[in-house]
Formats: sequence, structure tokens, C-alpha cells
Amino acid sequence: QADVFTYDPGFTSTASCDSTITFIDGAKGELLHRGYPIDQLASKSHYLEVCFLLLYGYLPSAAVLEKFETTITRHTMIHEQMHYFFRGFRRDAHPMATMVGVVGAMSAFYHDSTDIADEMQREIATHRLIAKMPTIAAMAYKYSVGQPFVYPRNDLSYAANFLNMCFAVPAEEYHVDPIVARAMDRIFTLHADHEQNASTSTVRLASSSGANPFACIAAGIACLWGPAHGGANQACLEMLKQIGTPDRIPEYIARAKDKDDPFRLMGFGHRVYKNFDPRATVMKQSADEVLDLLGIEDNPTLQVAKELERQALEDPYFHDKKLFPNVDFYSGIILEAIGFPTSMFTPIFAVSRTVGWVSQWKEMIADPQNKIGRPRQLYLGETERDYVDIENR
Ligand code: SDX
Repeated sequence: QADVFTYDPGFTSTASCDSTITFIDGAKGELLHRGYPIDQLASKSHYLEVCFLLLYGYLPSAAVLEKFETTITRHTMIHEQMHYFFRGFRRDAHPMATMVGVVGAMSAFYHDSTDIADEMQREIATHRLIAKMPTIAAMAYKYSVGQPFVYPRNDLSYAANFLNMCFAVPAEEYHVDPIVARAMDRIFTLHADHEQNASTSTVRLASSSGANPFACIAAGIACLWGPAHGGANQACLEMLKQIGTPDRIPEYIARAKDKDDPFRLMGFGHRVYKNFDPRATVMKQSADEVLDLLGIEDNPTLQVAKELERQALEDPYFHDKKLFPNVDFYSGIILEAIGFPTSMFTPIFAVSRTVGWVSQWKEMIADPQNKIGRPRQLYLGETERDYVDIENR
């Protein structure tokens, strides 16, 4: 259903689009993908099944799911010539910079899936993007740490393959711990789609002009990078480490409340959720599980996160403004425990959200009402006036 929601100062606006993919009830803290609650999908499903659900609208039979997973698995390699793109970046380039560039460049390599009028080409583009995003993210990481690229393997699951491409080295096999692979898959599932967030709206606006899918997804990656959006997971872990110990939490809470201080509690607050972000609840449980199973006792960052959440939720400022932990508050703790540097947190978000972007892209392209996005403005500038020659100024 198109949502009608009210912004301050009191004007109402209709939703930017209709969609049947994801529903959020911000007041109740509910998130449904094609009607299925996110906590059930996170505990009972897995990322590629959620991809199928988002793309096609139903939970597949075992045979159909196996065919879909095989299709994705067999698209995970990228064109060998694309390896040269990575070498054009400085070694210390942020992996998100590399991903924006390389994904945009896919439109120069995969001409046979850029004609958006052709349904089969759209389908192939969808599979290529979901399949190749982990490979591109892993290559961006390997390049940033000066290690050789690791090719995808067809005998590994989607999450295990990503971990192997990131952490294997020629000198020794990387053992994919099933617990870590499960945690990785759950993080992918929790970030898969989220209605009309900034990066998805960017993809929709770009695709409304008829731009090819690779260019549209590159635009979404660029938008996701911002610290107010997908970059918050990196910013949140850096904030938790900057706080360092629970005794310093009150100082940071005071800063977050100070209107004159630009500091915000990263991983807290949301444009839509005015209750707990249901993904944060699942992520917090996963953080406890993964650290426990990895034998990481008393992780100081997790202790700071839990105490910060407790103190903020007891503070009238956060309570009155309905500010709760969001998906980014605990995710970084898990990703760091798995072995990722903070610079890889947002690329992992981009890998996961690719299915949300392409699902919404497909929905928009197929919509007979799809017209080029053309937002209007409220003009507050000068009224008409005549030009003044420079000698008269
Ligand atoms: C994501 O849209 C999505 O769905 C996004 C996402 C997805 O899956 O795609 O969920 C992913 O982007 C999650 C959000 C990640 N960002 C962060 O964690 C960064 C920290 N959060 C804030 O920057 C902030 O909460 C925003 C940007 C997310 C929302 O800010 P808004 O639009 O100001 O939110 P609001 O209107 O609810 O804020 C109400 C008040 C404001 O103060 P007043 O103007 O009323 O005086 O609360 C304040 C805000 O300034 N506030 C905060 C705060 N977040 C909002 N104060 C301190 N710390 C915070 N984190």
C-alpha cells in the first residue's frame, strides 16, 4: 500500500512509489519481506532464499531454489579484463570507492544485459549483479591489503564463498567455520532490503530514466556510502572504540544531546523506526552467539555497546525523540570478530542490499506507470530582476 505519512512542520506527503516487496511499520518496529517477518527469515531462511523471495514474491520449492542457487553460483566470476580496473586505484582507496567504479564499469563489459526493454536481459543482469557483488567486494578488499585475488568457488555457499575470497591466501587454505558462515549469511539477510531508503530511492530515480542496471546500482552504492546511511556501521564501531570504556559513555551521550555539537550516536535513530529496529534485535542476539562460539569472552566493544544502549534508552532525550538502536549498532562488532576491518563494513552492506536494489529496480521497470523521476522544489530565491553590467556594480 502506498503510505501516506506526515512530516513536521505538519504537511502530508504521499509515498514516492507503490511497492509489494517490503513493508515497515516504524511505530511497531516491524519489517516484512513479501509478508514474512524479518526475524523468522533470519532464523529459518538463508540469504539466497531471501533473494528469491524478494525477486519473485514467494518461497520456492526445493527444486526451484536449487536451480536459482546454481544459476547465481555460476555467475560469480567477473570478466578477467575487469581485474585491471582494481589496479587503477591507489592501494589505500576505500573499498567503497573501488566498488562504485567497478560496478559502474560492468555496463562496459556486460552489454548483453543492459537493454532494459528485454525481459531476459533484465533477468541476466539481476543474476549477474547478485552473483558478482561478493566477488567485487572481496577483490576490493584483497587489493586494499595487497594480497592476490582469490577466485570464487562453486563448491561453497554464497556466504562461505565470500569469506573464502576475502580471507584465503595462496600460502594456506582458509577454513570456513560453519558458525562464521552462518553469521555472515544472517548479516546478508538482515540487510537485504528496506523499502524506500536513500540508496534504494537513488536506484529507483536513476532507473526511471532508463539507465542500465549496472549504472543504477553503482549510484545506489555511492549513496549507501554516506555515514548517515550505510556508512553508519563503520562509523558506529569507530565510535564505540573511541568511547573505549563504559565510564566514558555519559560524556558521549551528553554530546549527542547537545544541539551545538554535530556528534550523533552512530547506529542510533532512524527516519522510519520510532521503536526498536527489528534487525538490531536479531543482530544483538547474533553478536552474543558469534562471540561466544568464537570463544571471544568479554569483548570490550560489545560491553560498551550494551551499556551505551542501556543508558541511552533510559535517557529522556532518546526516549522522547524515539531513538533506538538500528541495524548498524551491533553489526560491526560481529564483522570485526569475523576478521573484517571497518572499511569493509559498508561494502558488505552493499553486497547484501544489491538484491533489494535490483528487486526494486525490476519492480519499477515493469511498472506501466513508470515515468522519469522529476522531483519539484519550493523556490525561496530572488524574484525576477535585470542584469547589472560590471561597471555599474
Ligand atoms: C540506515 O532508511 C533506511 O531504511 C536506512 C537503513 C536501511 O536499511 O537502508 O535502515 C540503514 O541508514 C540506518 C541509519 C544509520 N545511520 C545512523 O545510525 C547515523 C546516526 N543516526 C542519525 O544520523 C539519524 O538518526 C538518522 C540520520 C538515521 C535519522 O535522523 P533524523 O532524520 O534527524 O531522524 P529523526 O527526525 O527521527 O530525529 C529526531 C531528533 C532530531 O532532533 P530534533 O531535530 O528533533 O531536535 O533526534 C535527533 C535528531 O537530531 N537524532 C539524534 C540521533 N538521531 C536523531 N540525536 C542523537 N543521536 C542520534 N543518533
